[in-house]
Formats: sequence, C-alpha cells, structure tokens
Amino acid sequence: MKLLVIGSGGREHALAWRLFRDACPSKVFVAPGNAGTAGEAGIVNLPLANPKALADFAAREKVHFTVVGPESFLADGIVDVFRARGQKIFGPTQDAARLETSKDFAKRFMLRHNIPTAASETFTDAALAHDYVDARPGPFVVKADGLAAGKGVVVTSTLDAAHCAIDDMLVRGKLGAAGSRILVEDFLEGEEASFIVMADGKNILPLASSQDHKRIFDGDRGPNTGGMGAYSPAPVVTPEIHAKVMREIIRPAVLGLAAEGMPYTGFLYAGLMIGKDGSVRTVEFNCRMGDPETQPILMRMKSSLSTLIELALEGRLDQADAVWDHRTALGVVLASAGYPETPRTDDAIVGIPGETEEIKVFHAGTAAKDGQTVTSGGRVLCVTALGENIRHARKTAYAAVDKIRFDGMQFRRDIGNHALRTED
Ligand SMILES: Nc1ncnc2c1ncn2[C@@H]1O[C@H](COP(=O)(O)OP(=O)(O)OP(=O)(O)O)[C@@H](O)[C@H]1O
Ligand SMILES: [Mg+2]
Repeated sequence: MKLLVIGSGGREHALAWRLFRDACPSKVFVAPGNAGTAGEAGIVNLPLANPKALADFAAREKVHFTVVGPESFLADGIVDVFRARGQKIFGPTQDAARLETSKDFAKRFMLRHNIPTAASETFTDAALAHDYVDARPGPFVVKADGLAAGKGVVVTSTLDAAHCAIDDMLVRGKLGAAGSRILVEDFLEGEEASFIVMADGKNILPLASSQDHKRIFDGDRGPNTGGMGAYSPAPVVTPEIHAKVMREIIRPAVLGLAAEGMPYTGFLYAGLMIGKDGSVRTVEFNCRMGDPETQPILMRMKSSLSTLIELALEGRLDQADAVWDHRTALGVVLASAGYPETPRTDDAIVGIPGETEEIKVFHAGTAAKDGQTVTSGGRVLCVTALGENIRHARKTAYAAVDKIRFDGMQFRRDIGNHALRTED
C-alpha cells in the first residue's frame, strides 16, 4: 500500500512518520517534503506541487489515499480535483474550506448556526471601518478576510493601532487581495486552546486537545508567528469544556455544512477562547491540522492513523476510536534568524539527536545542501518529547534542544508554562 502526504512542514513530517509507523505501507510519498522526510526510511519526497500533477502521480503509482497538510492546496481545490477522478483524498472541498479561506464566510456561517464567536463587522471601505471602531468600546482585532500565512491578524490594544491596521489593509494594501476585505472583531479575553477533530461528512472523531504558542518571545510577547511550540493534552480543556465545544461548536459546524450542501471531510480545527466563566468562543476555524500542534498530538496517538483516515473516507467514523498515550507530549519550535519577518536560510544545522521512544525531532524548514542539513525557512525544527507530565516532557524536550545548533537559532524557553500552572 502506498500513501501520499501533501506539504513540506513539521506537520507533514509528523503525518508521514505516523502513517509509516503504524500502517506499514510499502511507501509514504511526501510532496514536496523536506530534509527530515527525505531522511526517513520508507518515506520518499516528490518534487510536485500542482494538484493535477499530484493526481496523475497518485493514479500512476496506485496511491491508496492522499492526505492534505496545508490550507493553500485546499484553497486551490485539490480535493475536488482528486474526487472528480475518483481518487481517495482526505480533506475538505474548496467550498467547505471557505471556513478557513474566508473569515467573513466563517463568521456568517457561525451566525447562521448559532456558534459562539466574537462580534464583528466586515468592511471593504476604510471610512466605514474607522467609524465602526470609533463607535464601539474595543479593544479590537483586525483580520484580513483571506489567507495571509499567519500575518493577517492584528490584535490591537489602542484605538490608534486599530485605525492603523485598517489603513494598512484597506488603504495601503499591505496584504494584497487577502486584506482587501477585513473583519473588525471584538477582542476576547480568556485562554486559547486548539480543538481538532476528524470528520467524514456527518460523523466526528475528536483528537487529543492541544495548545499552541503564537508569539515569538517568552511570556507571549512580540509578533505572532506560525506557532513556536505546542503540547498535548491541554489541561484547560476539561471534560466539561470538551463536551461544551462538541455541543456548541463542532457538531453545529459539521451538521451545518452538511445541511448547506457541502459536507465536510477532513481535519477540522477550531481555535478556542475559553473564558474564566467556562464559556467557549470560536476564534477561528482551520481546515487542516495545526502546525505545531500536530507534532505532539501524533506523538501521543496510539491508534492507527491510516485506519482512522480509511474509516473517515468510508463515512464510518462512528465506528472509530482514537486511543492516546496517557503521557504529555511537548514540542519546541526552533526558528531561523529573522523569523517571522525575514527568515534567513542556508545556516548549517548540527547536533540533531536521533529518534528514541521519548524524543522525535520533526523537520520543517530544512533542506539538504552539499552533504549538510541547512535551514530553508522560518520554522526549522520541532523538537518533540513525551513525559509522564508536562514538567517531564518539557525537561526532555529542552535537553534535546540544547544539543542542536545553527546560527541565529531562536526558540522560546517557556513552552508549556500555561499547563504547568494548572499542574501545580
Ligand atoms: N477576537 C479575538 N480576541 C482575542 N484574540 C484574538 C481574536 N482573534 C484572534 N486573536 C488572536 O490572534 C491569533 C490569530 O488569529 P486567527 O486564528 O483568527 O488568525 P489566523 O491567521 O487564521 O491564524 P492561524 O495561522 O492559526 O490559522 C489567535 O490565535 C489569537 O491569539
Ligand atoms: Mg487560520
């Protein structure tokens, strides 16, 4: 059996690694992959990025199923291309993926289905957006409607900053077409968590909870990034919160999409804001697994991921069961110099520890060059470790981090702090 994973980040390294481990396929292809996937036995990188070329390849090689990692391919309708040819692929159609690719679509959808989220208005006209901000108490979060690779959201603490973010997007065109329509949203207080499920159009299988660290610096300071570290489980997602999220957010979303004629198949990610009063609100939907949340989540997965995907593709997720390692997994992202604004590439990486039962270093922005592994993107590696509790997982992860070197390496020292507070 051959499988295909699409993407090149840490998430895709983790997906391919998990699939190869538990399913014993003859091969897992990763398109395009990175130096980490190239170095794994049984995993083969493919220099392809075009949906049609990928579908041709999958047909020729008799790939059993394909899994899509990044949102860009979903936005381009890769699932529609495969399905039209009768090829199995796990991910939502272009229509359903609007839950992620248009924040305005997502907001209207949530309103239609009574899914709790922040109040917001959508604008294409800057003057109207400025008036709106002046007439409400704030603070505000200004969001580009379209995909902006993690750079489309500005959390503002002053009115001036909100006005400035509006002009950046609508007047100065800083984010191009993605920011030519914006949402001005009320700021939500609380603690964030990531809630990822698998869906088969009607049935839902929740995966283990997790928490990401968006800001570049310790103490949640500095600009937002794609994510500087994550752990699973997230203690803030108590059984009560879990039940509430399923009841108020996930079920209405999956049932709502089906009722609107675009049944959702794939990983569905709800970004949550959990209030002190136990309320949950939806910060965003993503139509894929999170990166870096995938790395700790899959490190804990004891079920066969390929069996779960197979059941989902057959519409039988109601018969699936996900079993998790009782331990905590924690991943620390090592980023390149200049990340997130201007990541530097081509720095040689040394000291990456080999895989053990407790440690796995997933590659993201890495490439092979002149016999060396070098940086090739913003987020370079995700050092992931298992431990009896958050404290142990963290100690093991950072001991491995301390062995790795490359010029300009940036990472946070406080991954897991929120959970540690809960554990104490
Ligand atoms: N209404 C809000 N109140 C408070 N913080 C918010 C709000 N909306 C967004 N944020 C913060 O901004 C971050 C990014 O927002 P959001 O998830 O909508 O953007 P995104 O670019 O789609 O993110 P991702 O790259 O994870 O898909 C959130 O994780 C959260 O920290
Ligand atoms: Mg998003």
